[in-house]
Amino acid sequence: MGKQSKSKKDRKTSAWFQRHANDAHVKQAQREGKRSRAVFKLTEILDEHGLEIRKNSVVLDLGCAPGSWSEEIANRLGPDGLVIGIDLLPLNAIEGVTLIEGDFDSPKGQQALNQALAGRAVDLVVSDMAPELSGNKLVDQMRMIGLNEMTLHFAKEHLKPGGELLMKTFMGEGYDQFRRELGMAFEKVKNIKPAASRKTSSEFFLLARGFRGQ
Ligand SMILES: C[S@@+](CC[C@H](N)C(=O)[O-])C[C@H]1O[C@@H](n2cnc3c(N)ncnc32)[C@H](O)[C@@H]1O
Repeated sequence: MGKQSKSKKDRKTSAWFQRHANDAHVKQAQREGKRSRAVFKLTEILDEHGLEIRKNSVVLDLGCAPGSWSEEIANRLGPDGLVIGIDLLPLNAIEGVTLIEGDFDSPKGQQALNQALAGRAVDLVVSDMAPELSGNKLVDQMRMIGLNEMTLHFAKEHLKPGGELLMKTFMGEGYDQFRRELGMAFEKVKNIKPAASRKTSSEFFLLARGFRGQ
C-alpha cells in the first residue's frame, strides 16, 4: 500500500510511534532497564505523595503488564512482603512477584487472587488498569468506571483497616458518584496527575488512604 493511501488509523498509529520514540520518559526507561515508562508515574506517587511501601507489605497490582510497577514494588519490599500482579496478558517472570494471567473483572480472576493471597490481608491495592479503548468516549468512560467500581469492591473485602488504594481513572460520566463512594470508604482521597502521565491523556490517579474498614 502506497504512502498516499495510508488510512487515518495508520497515520494515527505512526504519529503515536513517533511521539513514543521521542518521549523523555521512554528514553529514561530504556536507559534504566525499566519494563515501561509507567514506572515513573508510580515512583512520583511513592516518593512525592508519601505513599510508602513498607518492607512487610502485602500489595496487589491490578493490570500489571508489562510489570514495571510490580518490579518497583518488589524492589522496595523485604522478605516478608508479598506482591501479586494480575493481567489479561502473559508476562515474563519477575523476581519476587506472584503473577496471574487472568481477567480481574471475572470470578475466575478474583478466585486466583484469593488463592494467591491465602488469607493474608492487603496493605495496598494499586491499579493501572484501563479498558481497551473503543473510540467511543462514553462507552470507554463507563468501562473505566466499571473497573474502578470492581476494584473498590475487591479492595473493601481485602484491605486492612488503614490500608491504601491507588487507581487510574478518567474524568467524565460516573466519576463524581464514584469519587463520593471512595470518600465514604477512606479517610482521605487525593487526585494526582503525575508528570509522566501524558498531558493529552485524560487519565489521572486517585490515591485513597486510611481505609475505614468493612
Ligand atoms: C497501562 S498497562 C499497565 C502498566 C503497568 N502498570 C506497568 O507498569 O508495567 C494497563 C494494563 O491493564 C490490563 N488490564 C486491563 N483490563 C484488565 C482486566 N480486566 N484484568 C486484568 N488486566 C487488565 C491491560 O492488559 C494492560 O496490560
